[in-house]
Amino acid sequence: MDYFNRISGRLWAEDVALADVAKAVGTPAYVYSRATIERHFQVMDLSLAGVDHLVCFAVKACSNLAVLQVLARQGSGFDIVSAGELARVLRAGGDPAKVVFSGVGKRDDEIAAALRAGILCLNVESAGELQHIASVAQELGVRAPISLRVNPDVDPKTHKYIATGLKTSKFGVSFGEAEQLYLQASQHPHLQVVGIACHIGSQILKVAPFVEAIEKVLTLVDRLRKAGVHLDHIDVGGGLGIAYRNERPALPAELGQVIVGITQGHGLKVLMEPGRVIVGNAGVLLTQVIGTKSNEDKQFVIVDAGMNDLLRPSLYDAYHQIELVEDDSGRQRVAVDVVGPVCETGDFLALDRELPALQRGDLLAVKGAGAYGFAMASNYNSRPRPAEVLVSAGQFQVVRQRETLQDLWHGETLMEPGLANQPDSAGELPR
Ligand code: LLP
Repeated sequence: MDYFNRISGRLWAEDVALADVAKAVGTPAYVYSRATIERHFQVMDLSLAGVDHLVCFAVKACSNLAVLQVLARQGSGFDIVSAGELARVLRAGGDPAKVVFSGVGKRDDEIAAALRAGILCLNVESAGELQHIASVAQELGVRAPISLRVNPDVDPKTHKYIATGLKTSKFGVSFGEAEQLYLQASQHPHLQVVGIACHIGSQILKVAPFVEAIEKVLTLVDRLRKAGVHLDHIDVGGGLGIAYRNERPALPAELGQVIVGITQGHGLKVLMEPGRVIVGNAGVLLTQVIGTKSNEDKQFVIVDAGMNDLLRPSLYDAYHQIELVEDDSGRQRVAVDVVGPVCETGDFLALDRELPALQRGDLLAVKGAGAYGFAMASNYNSRPRPAEVLVSAGQFQVVRQRETLQDLWHGETLMEPGLANQPDSAGELPR
């Protein structure tokens, strides 16, 4: 459930009319509902109430400081994949003791930053990485808390780019290798084995793949226990899907209940790393119609948000509902392509979509844009990234300013005179 509703014809985020936000902030802009984020966190947290647990929000889904702060205040932990995400979590008041560090390529300086911050656990993805972590820990004179991310070879039945738990993917280590590595790690003076992790993919709609993966991981936990390696926690990853269109994803409560059921009696704390299910439906992208055009028999609505602002439709063919912000009743419906201003045919927000007939100046809300929306935005085509706005208790606040043109070349320099005078490779100055 979210708090974006149409009342008296107009779209609202909680008690704030989206048209008012667009008027004050401009477009494109991401708008998040704090009440929705809090509710989703609480539902997820409650779903695991039957077992000692920690919900670690996957920062990559939406890394705005204010959003992280909302979650930190709820007691959330965080799943990070870079030193940048760690810095954001700390800046937002997150507790490092509730941070897990995932990802297939952690640099030594990132490992060191995590160890210095005193995070809960590094989820290790290969034998080589275990070595790197051990040597960084040795240099720092600490013991690194680690889990191995195992690859359970389960098909999560999702888009191939976001299926991560198949043995053909780059993620995790096989069960056989994991057993060896656990035995090595448990003897190492600078490693402390604390858990085991898996993450099989994203936008997973059913409970069954989670069950299959967790049951497989638990067999390994048992084998390890027999071999004298005792773990404190199992991290079941993230991945629960949301309804973008007419999907019927399993409810957090269903998933939680099943996880509690199968992990009970194993003496393990349960960690979970949800991203999308917490913030996906807690955010919309506001965009304005620049104009319309038709080529042959196709009709296009050109809006001021493009693939650089919301990449999901272009990259995954993802479906996002699009609604007129103001009253849409009484308008005829027509099938259109909603496209952005970026110079690629792949730049679209919707294809062949039946929408109320749109005209220049209309405001649209692209729904389900809270997860992997701003987080994947870029400056492609030298387009400043959009503003981010948080609605809370009847008010709204800009929690990230729209980028300015100067921001576009932040950190860049013009050539110094010496360089500018260098002849080009053909021995001539460019004219
Ligand atoms: N944990 C790990 C190790 C992950 O790799 C991910 C997501 C998550 C947790 C959170 O998964 P979630 O609960 O959000 O499904 N950009 C794509 C999604 C990429 C997911 C990457 N990993 C999209 O827009 O659909």
